[in-house]
Amino acid sequence: MNNNLVIPNHVAIILDGNGRWAQAKGKTRSEGHYAGFNNLDKLSEYIFEKGVQVLSVYAFSTENFKRTKEEVNYLMDLFTEGFKRYSKRLNKKDIRIVFSGRREPLPNKVLKIMDKITEDTTNNKKGIFNICVNYGGQYELVDAVKEIANKIQNNQLTLNEIDLITLNSHMYNNLPPVDLMIRTSGEYRLSNFLLFQNAYAEFYFPDVYFPAFTTEEFDKAIIEYNKRDRRYGGIKNDNQSN
Ligand code: FPP
Repeated sequence: MNNNLVIPNHVAIILDGNGRWAQAKGKTRSEGHYAGFNNLDKLSEYIFEKGVQVLSVYAFSTENFKRTKEEVNYLMDLFTEGFKRYSKRLNKKDIRIVFSGRREPLPNKVLKIMDKITEDTTNNKKGIFNICVNYGGQYELVDAVKEIANKIQNNQLTLNEIDLITLNSHMYNNLPPVDLMIRTSGEYRLSNFLLFQNAYAEFYFPDVYFPAFTTEEFDKAIIEYNKRDRRYGGIKNDNQSN
């Protein structure tokens, strides 16, 4: 891959298509999720090696609790074991792991692992892996507004202090804006993912299911990102120095 390519600071991925990948191969949905999990294990390390500073992944939405009990239980077990594996690999690489989402109604065993990993990796400096579990972007905004209102009520914050920086610092994690948002499996939806942080992200929708979204596929995403003309609402080929 060309070394002169600009590497996005914050990449977000909607891990979609495990079920369809499994179906196409005559496997169970659980096998599809396991393949997705294995893929993310290698892919996340590769993405940080490329120089990405923050990687966010949508592992489980608030709405995913509507799936069958069997599938939800499988995923919760996978998270319990899987987060441990990710943290073992990424801790060695000095990557901090954080989680975004509501705690209720996640099972205790998952919460315990999440808390331990957050604490174990809290001083790591090379990058941030943000795993979104029981996450919904609209709920994140509701929760931030509640926290801010509570601070105003307790005289810890004034109305005039509320700006984009203050709002961002009340999100589940105080992360930089997303530069590149990828959704695998050929679906063109945001599905309530990082609504605030994705404001000026470039979107990329590869036509492969997540278990087949390999490191080579990620390289293609970076090449495509480099073809985009990011203007942030400004003028094309803006040469202004400020
Ligand atoms: C959506 O695709 C995927 C999920 C709800 C689960 C994603 C989880 C993983 C990739 C495992 C990650 C593991 C850890 C430890 C973070 P889908 O299964 O709904 O696919 P479909 O739309 O084809 O049915």
